[in-house]
Amino acid sequence: MPVRALWYSGGVLSVLDQRALPGKTRVLRIRTLAATAEAIRTLTVRGAPTIGVAAAYGMVLAHHEGRYTPARAARLLGATRPTAVDLFVGIGIVRSAWERGTDVEVAANEYRKKVVNECHEIGVVGAPLFAKSRRVLTHCNAGALATVEWGTALAPLRVARQRGARLFVWVDETRPLLQGARLTAWELGREHIPHAVIADNAAGHFLSTGQVDAVIVGADRIARNGDFANKIGTYEKAVLARENGVPFYVAAPWSTFDSSRATGATIPVEERDPEEVATMAGHRVMPRSSSARNPAFDVTPARFVTAYITPGGIVRPHDLARTLKRRAASAAGAGLTGGGSGNARPRGRSTRAWQGR
Ligand code: MRU
Repeated sequence: MPVRALWYSGGVLSVLDQRALPGKTRVLRIRTLAATAEAIRTLTVRGAPTIGVAAAYGMVLAHHEGRYTPARAARLLGATRPTAVDLFVGIGIVRSAWERGTDVEVAANEYRKKVVNECHEIGVVGAPLFAKSRRVLTHCNAGALATVEWGTALAPLRVARQRGARLFVWVDETRPLLQGARLTAWELGREHIPHAVIADNAAGHFLSTGQVDAVIVGADRIARNGDFANKIGTYEKAVLARENGVPFYVAAPWSTFDSSRATGATIPVEERDPEEVATMAGHRVMPRSSSARNPAFDVTPARFVTAYITPGGIVRPHDLARTLKRRAASAAGAGLTGGGSGNARPRGRSTRAWQGR
């Protein structure tokens, strides 16, 4: 059965508690902006497109609570996690409906539908790359849990499987919070897709011994030149893939492309509580006297990317800036701004403000 990371009905945002997986399937019912922000901050809901949609509904809940201005609600939700641009896109869409006096629930629902449809398109576009039996490595969780439904990195694998491809997936465990071991393995297992979890530091071994045919990951923010932020450890997988002549794909919906950034140099990298590194599954794994650092993302230069799998097609790094420009121009022609992904923003507000940074 396909997974859904969240759903909304009658003033309640229901989310699958991703902290409890794979051990427990628990649904939390969220009714306030504060609870939405907490769920995003604690990775109860996580993954760039999912937190974008959760934040959109968080704005809806704030609207219903009646004690926030749109600006304050946007600020509170925007302060939860800095790296994934989707968060700011989701907030911005509902904020603009709120400020225009149009239906905020309709705006959030449309955004959710758009994200889900785009992820399905990513699957259709990307599946032919995996049509032959392929051994594919992925990092973190870029499946349905991270995108509401379908996934980014996992969508092409799902569609390829439906079309009969015989795939095997290497799943990086993804320390410190084990999104690969806990969540990607859980999603693949539910669909009987053959896979094995490997320690993060094992990827080089499997790549250099010819046991990986392709690497595919999602992204949290992609700059105009194709540099992109994704879960910590992605950069080293990209370098290892290049070193071993293995294609490296990045799959993302349009909301993850941030045309306001020329390069990845200014993408904000979230640094989380060092306790997440100091502990594993609730147990301390290092001396109390040692300190730790915990950057949650890294930035991979575009030169390591073979191609971006987008809802509009496969885009090579040297074509990305042109593609984004074309999309912005056609969106402007249709009376929209903000990259043409349906991310309409009120005229007169700068792109930076729109994207919450
Ligand atoms: O910290 P997380 O678990 O929210 O990080 C998620 C990732 O890095 C994913 O790979 C990314 O959001 C792309 S998923 C579509």
